[in-house]
Amino acid sequence: MFDFSPSTHADKAELYAALLSAAQAITSGEPDIIANMANVSALIWQYLPDLNWSGFYRLVGSELVLGPFQGKPACIRIAIGAGVCGAAAASRETQLVEDVHAFPGHIACDAASRSELVVPIVHDGALIGVLDLDSPSPARFDAEDAAGCEALVRLLAPRIAG
Ligand code: SME
Repeated sequence: MFDFSPSTHADKAELYAALLSAAQAITSGEPDIIANMANVSALIWQYLPDLNWSGFYRLVGSELVLGPFQGKPACIRIAIGAGVCGAAAASRETQLVEDVHAFPGHIACDAASRSELVVPIVHDGALIGVLDLDSPSPARFDAEDAAGCEALVRLLAPRIAG
């Protein structure tokens, strides 16, 4: 059993430091990319408050396909360029969306989602997928969340590349 216990008093910097350390520990030496994505989606869910979805879409062929996640069942296939995830994949740039209703083409997998953060995952110059976080609160994510999730993805990319 793994017992990672995020402090309920931690500020955002402390939360991301603890999340990265837990992700580093749980994926260390494990070559199975599905196991690593599954455990990291669970860690994100456990460490970061006020989420209604956290997980991965993998680039399979020419589209994004649902990977390990926490939250409600979600859209399975997303075209590159479609929605927030597709925009992150097409641009290879983090998408920080304060109001998903104002994002052209947003794909509403869960009607409760109000804000979203999507970080592209690139390994050895190749896009391998995206990390997607959703929240029921408007403007839940800020630059600190983006930087924290980008650091997480840098750590994780070699451990989830197939
Ligand atoms: N809202 C995303 C789709 C994925 S779900 O949020 C899990 C989008 O617009 O790409």
